[in-house]
Amino acid sequence: MTRVLLCGGAGYIGSHTAVELLENGYDIVVVDDLSNSSKESLERVKKITGKDFPFYQADVCHKSALDRIFEENQIDAVIHFAGKKAVGESVQIPLEYYRINLNATLALCESMIQHGVMNIIFSSSATVYSADNKVPFTEKSHLGCSNPYGWTKLMNEQILQDIAKATPGFSVVLLRYFNPVGAHPSGLIGEDPQGIPNNLMPFIAQVAVGKRDHINVFGNDYDTPDGTGVRDYLHVVDLASGHVAALNYVMNHEGTEIFNLGTGKGVSVLDMIKSYSKACGRILTYVIAPRRAGDLATVYADATKAKEVLGWTATKTLDDMCADSWNWQSHNPNGYH
Ligand code: UFG
Repeated sequence: MTRVLLCGGAGYIGSHTAVELLENGYDIVVVDDLSNSSKESLERVKKITGKDFPFYQADVCHKSALDRIFEENQIDAVIHFAGKKAVGESVQIPLEYYRINLNATLALCESMIQHGVMNIIFSSSATVYSADNKVPFTEKSHLGCSNPYGWTKLMNEQILQDIAKATPGFSVVLLRYFNPVGAHPSGLIGEDPQGIPNNLMPFIAQVAVGKRDHINVFGNDYDTPDGTGVRDYLHVVDLASGHVAALNYVMNHEGTEIFNLGTGKGVSVLDMIKSYSKACGRILTYVIAPRRAGDLATVYADATKAKEVLGWTATKTLDDMCADSWNWQSHNPNGYH
């Protein structure tokens, strides 16, 4: 039985991936410091799957904690979701972002190699692509970041590629996520942001459930069909199944391979509000606000490589994403709390 260590496995993407792995016959071990996640998410994963697994509450930056996990469990591969992820916050406290996001990868790779664990999948982001590219972005598009969060993703990609080059048998898959949204169709797990949500769908969800009054649409004068920003929103369950496909790949190769995970389709802010209004059964109020600094007009993936090499494609529609988000939000208006 293949056993996978999920670093940051109690978080939004980690918990959904945990479900997909358990349902596809993998064993898992979860490590998470719960700094931006809840242990309740793991209880819900157990409820959905009917399966149990070990959990360690520990900081992935602490190599001694990782050493203990690798000593106590026979691990075949690691999926590394752990890290800080708020773009705006990373501009305010860059030192903390570099310290945490880079140290986690360094400690993890040191401990993995010491214990002979040679397969890792890393959560990267479409944010590593520079603004001067034409859409859709392919894995060969130019790289470059506009904030410290993005740089930590790109630096971690570099670190992992260099380790793979220098370490025979080491295998790395870098997954560049576009915009993960939605929730598990059971309504038991979903995104649970602390404070005011930065991202569009969790903000809309809080307006829909009556926690906030209206949505601010950041700019309607972009060069896009309706003037609002266009993104490649991807159902989190599709994203989770992308990790299962990548796991199969990483275990059977060595060196580094990079994949975009997206739908390949662009959706505007107004499209999203319309679809969410349908899902929750009322017209959601929005106000046109100034553009948000650093935002691009249009971002979407060319996901051909993931289809050809991993055999993976996204299958869920925008209406599925909104319906599943609403199912989670309406049943858990305060998230896991
Ligand atoms: N938007 C609004 N109002 C809001 C929030 C967002 O109009 O309240 C707009 C944005 O201007 C943008 C779109 O909705 O046009 C999507 O914004 P998000 O904040 O949801 O997502 P981003 O594309 O800005 O960023 C996301 C993740 C990053 C990741 C990036 C990769 O937050 O971590 O995708 O492309 F790096």
